[in-house]
Amino acid sequence: MKNILITGISKGLGLELARILLKQRYKVFGINRTISDELKKLKEKYGEKLNIKMFDLTDSKKSKELLLGDFINLDTPLHGFVNNAAIAYDDIVTNINYGKLENMYKVNVFTPMILTKYVIRNMLLHNIKGSIIHVSSISVHTGYKGLAMYASTKGALEAFSKNTAREWGIKGIRSNSLVAGFMETSMSSKLDDEQKDRIYKRTSLKIPTDITSVANTIEFLLSEKSNSITGQNIFVDSGTI
Ligand SMILES: NC(=O)c1ccc[n+]([C@@H]2O[C@H](COP(=O)([O-])OP(=O)(O)OC[C@H]3O[C@@H](n4cnc5c(N)ncnc54)[C@H](OP(=O)(O)O)[C@@H]3O)[C@@H](O)[C@H]2O)c1
Repeated sequence: MKNILITGISKGLGLELARILLKQRYKVFGINRTISDELKKLKEKYGEKLNIKMFDLTDSKKSKELLLGDFINLDTPLHGFVNNAAIAYDDIVTNINYGKLENMYKVNVFTPMILTKYVIRNMLLHNIKGSIIHVSSISVHTGYKGLAMYASTKGALEAFSKNTAREWGIKGIRSNSLVAGFMETSMSSKLDDEQKDRIYKRTSLKIPTDITSVANTIEFLLSEKSNSITGQNIFVDSGTI
């Protein structure tokens, strides 16, 4: 049984990933602020295989306790970490609000970096060749009006991931970014049909990115099937052009 830490499993991609992992030989440790009905059902079905912590990832300073406290401690060997939770503060650059920007950076970048620190320490302690996956966004590579600030947080993660891979590859620890295209989740629900159509027209498949396809690719990156893949950006984006 492998222990995997995932942020943001109450809905969207994180929930789908938790479902896929729980069907297999994985124990899931999920962090979010709320517990959705779907997550409650998973807990009823899987019991001790699923551990949930309610925590607000804006609290970067306290996040260390997630890995050194009663949720996960040093007796729990970690085999994987999926940095999935994120918020998207969208607006045009000339409207940037410092408070909103700072908040997004805490959730999307600062807390994930601190969590990565303690995840790697845990993997080193247990001599585990673990796998770290940061969920990034196609907006880093193509650019979308209104997403400059959000895309900048994901660009930071891609750089962090690549450099983490360099630093810890010597111990067999891998780090990759999963670059997702636009998926139909609560995050993209604010977009109207016309905006969505414009986005999908920029893909080869002309359809939204399937969250199950993204989640299955993350599972592949967590597994030994991908043990020579590190420091990469893996695109699952309906072929965005
Ligand atoms: N949707 C897209 O089109 C798209 C495209 C490219 C990349 N992505 C990326 O894919 C990942 C998953 O996104 P999604 O579309 O599944 O988003 P989503 O449906 O909005 O889910 C986000 C998850 O993150 C958690 N979360 C958000 N803020 C949090 C906080 N402060 N503290 C703790 N947990 C928090 C949420 O849980 P609670 O609300 O319960 O706290 C939820 O479980 C994100 O990294 C996103 O940037 C999404």
